Amino acid sequence: MNSRTEENQAQRSVLEQNVASPVTPGAPFFPPFEVTPELEKEAARRIAQYPAEERRSAVLPLLHDVQHKFGFISPESIDWVAQQLGIEPIKVVEVVTFYPGFRQKAPGKLHVRVCRTLSCAMGGSQELMDKLCEITNIDRSEADGHKDPISVSPCGKFSVEFAECLASCGTAPVCLVNDDFHEDISANKAAALLDSYKNA
Ligand code: FES
Repeated sequence: MNSRTEENQAQRSVLEQNVASPVTPGAPFFPPFEVTPELEKEAARRIAQYPAEERRSAVLPLLHDVQHKFGFISPESIDWVAQQLGIEPIKVVEVVTFYPGFRQKAPGKLHVRVCRTLSCAMGGSQELMDKLCEITNIDRSEADGHKDPISVSPCGKFSVEFAECLASCGTAPVCLVNDDFHEDISANKAAALLDSYKNA
């Protein structure tokens, strides 16, 4: 085995260790990762916004584009982003695993991020999370805040995760549903909150 092959295998093993399996009941709600002409055109536009020697700085916008289009950051998309930027895949993995906003597996069609930092914790974020799980039949017993924070309902329509301070401590407890911000969401408002998305 030559040294390049060994290097590639070591790199793949790091990816496998750090990127959770993307297969969840939510996966059917998102298209599989695919490099389309539109995706390549948008990537080129993003990269052109940085000096040629700093093209790696486009890693965040590229990852945001991938997540927005495909629902999460898959190992295949990590390889593609690395290729676009001329960097090793592990450098992209470092970014994806550093920022909790990047998902490493398919969420539900509606993804709820519940703030659990001090003000929201005191305002009842655990009760809100418990109620959301009860309504959506989500089992969070296997949730791991660091490596596998997202729990998906069996039907794939809903998922939840705890988030750190969402910068609205005065209106705790707060949560995000997909990209929508909701304030003062106590547990007794959970059902109405989800109901407001029934046509989403
Ligand atoms: S503690 Fe929840 S928004 Fe700051």
